[in-house]
Amino acid sequence: MSSHAFTDHQFDVVVVGAGGSGLRAALGCAERGLKTACISKVFPTRSHTVAAQGGISAALGNMGDDDWRWHMYDTVKGSDWLGDQDAIEYLCRNAPEAVYELEHFGVPFSRTEEGKIYQRPFGGMTTNFGEGIAQRTCAAADRTGHAILHTLYGQSLRHETEFFIEYFALDLMMDDERCVGVTALDMSTGELHRFQAKQVILATGGYGRAYFSATSAHTCTGDGSAMVIRAGLPLQDMEFVQFHPTGIYGAGCLITEGSRGEGGILINSEGERFMERYAPSAKDLASRDVVSRSMTIEIREGRGVGPNKDHIFLHLDHLDPDVLAERLPGISESARIFAGVDVTKEPIPVLPTVHYNMGGIPTNYHGEVLNPSADEPERTVPGLMAIGEAACVSVHGANRLGSNSLIDLVVFGRASAIRTAEIVDPSAGFAPLAANAGDNAIERLERFRNANGSTPTAELRLEMQKAMQENCAVFRTGDVLEEGCQRMQNVVKGMEDIGIADRSLIWNSDLIETLEFDNLIVQAIATVEGANARKESRGGHAREDFPERDDENWMKHTLAYVDAKGKATIDYRGVHNFTLTNEVSYIEPKARVY
Ligand code: FUM
Repeated sequence: MSSHAFTDHQFDVVVVGAGGSGLRAALGCAERGLKTACISKVFPTRSHTVAAQGGISAALGNMGDDDWRWHMYDTVKGSDWLGDQDAIEYLCRNAPEAVYELEHFGVPFSRTEEGKIYQRPFGGMTTNFGEGIAQRTCAAADRTGHAILHTLYGQSLRHETEFFIEYFALDLMMDDERCVGVTALDMSTGELHRFQAKQVILATGGYGRAYFSATSAHTCTGDGSAMVIRAGLPLQDMEFVQFHPTGIYGAGCLITEGSRGEGGILINSEGERFMERYAPSAKDLASRDVVSRSMTIEIREGRGVGPNKDHIFLHLDHLDPDVLAERLPGISESARIFAGVDVTKEPIPVLPTVHYNMGGIPTNYHGEVLNPSADEPERTVPGLMAIGEAACVSVHGANRLGSNSLIDLVVFGRASAIRTAEIVDPSAGFAPLAANAGDNAIERLERFRNANGSTPTAELRLEMQKAMQENCAVFRTGDVLEEGCQRMQNVVKGMEDIGIADRSLIWNSDLIETLEFDNLIVQAIATVEGANARKESRGGHAREDFPERDDENWMKHTLAYVDAKGKATIDYRGVHNFTLTNEVSYIEPKARVY
């Protein structure tokens, strides 16, 4: 098929993805007078941000003293010193303004008695550089993502963003080093589209579905990150995968950390509040990597609960039922539906579950995608930005603090719009597209659409998900990771025999799932290969054979390239050991004590 099969469009900006970061970027570009399109494979208000529960961090100080510098300190410490401190400064300094903007856009935050935005404690969030517990997480009950997403969608429409809904983005269009647009399939008609753009902003989320058990939606397949890999660009710090301590046992659905912020506690089979032993000060509100590891140790040492002693209890039944009804209605319902538990009377069975990808597409704090070289570690890719979970700015480093994700979405969604308005001239014309622009996407689409092997996608996908779950988990060793690399190569090999039953282009879910699976494979490879290469423990990457953090050799970002045959090449770039302004100074590495 040649390029004439496409319907062509031209926009100043094309945002791919309509979650919190994509919508914040789209409305920011549109309100600045840029002709803006937003492409989404799901209806915008079904994007995964809708599932975010506990809240959005910002040092507003509504419920006690707070300061964005304390927030910065916590985020650097939470990142286990892999975060870039200039970007972290930008995040924490701009967080209050970004939240007040959301309030003015209409987000229905929960309120204090005085009518201020309600804020709850979350893991790793402290006052006065680690001394006390901060109440920094702004909440709309336990449906904060839902409230934000619906508000941002309304605002994007108000500013006349043009939406292309249920369009599946296929690949970037690159002209030499520059990104000039993106190709997409309209899933409802089977038509192919080329979106030429002066700026493409990828806001395509994480790839939690590379794992068997994840709090992520089934749509979280990291499509933009895979497009970046196929364009020959690297992904950064992919080995850092966050396990949320409280996924519902068996179902994987999220029980917000806000439940521990409201007083919930984790209990083992001996009735012990074991987090007191692992983190005497922060206890159940230590950062997520610490809590997930502690739970895993309890289970391994035989103190898990249930007939198989393979999970932990989260107790909320000692809390005031009115608080549960007002502050935690969503998880009370999830616990009833997915665990058959009445939270006012019984504990919820929970288990650490894959929740977030700290790694992603490397960017600077404007959202500009990086293609680092030895001489130019900060080299940008003209025409291409990435934001949200798809990106690695890197503000989360080796471990993200709870509620720092929603603030990342809006601060960097907004930053990318500000930067785009500086560098994109709406009055400038478009250079003609190369005659073969988009042919790479058609070749890939047709290869899978006509695949007539004997292995169903779902079968091979399960092999990948099991390999990641078993070989790239909370605790890791060289042998187990080595086996994981091999299992992923078997999955790559298995793709030669993949079979698609439906040959049509209209609502072909078999084809879309195969394209998504293909996207997941390269990210899974980058994850397990990066983990195998990193011979230390840091944040979410806990190597039993290298239990210490090793700043001398490993305080550096991993860059992973994956070629069309699934072969990974690993490289590194330095962590930013400087701040954005001299209002704050570089936070020197030290041991993390909770
Ligand atoms: O626990 C939660 O509500 C999740 C929040 C987050 O991942 O930031």
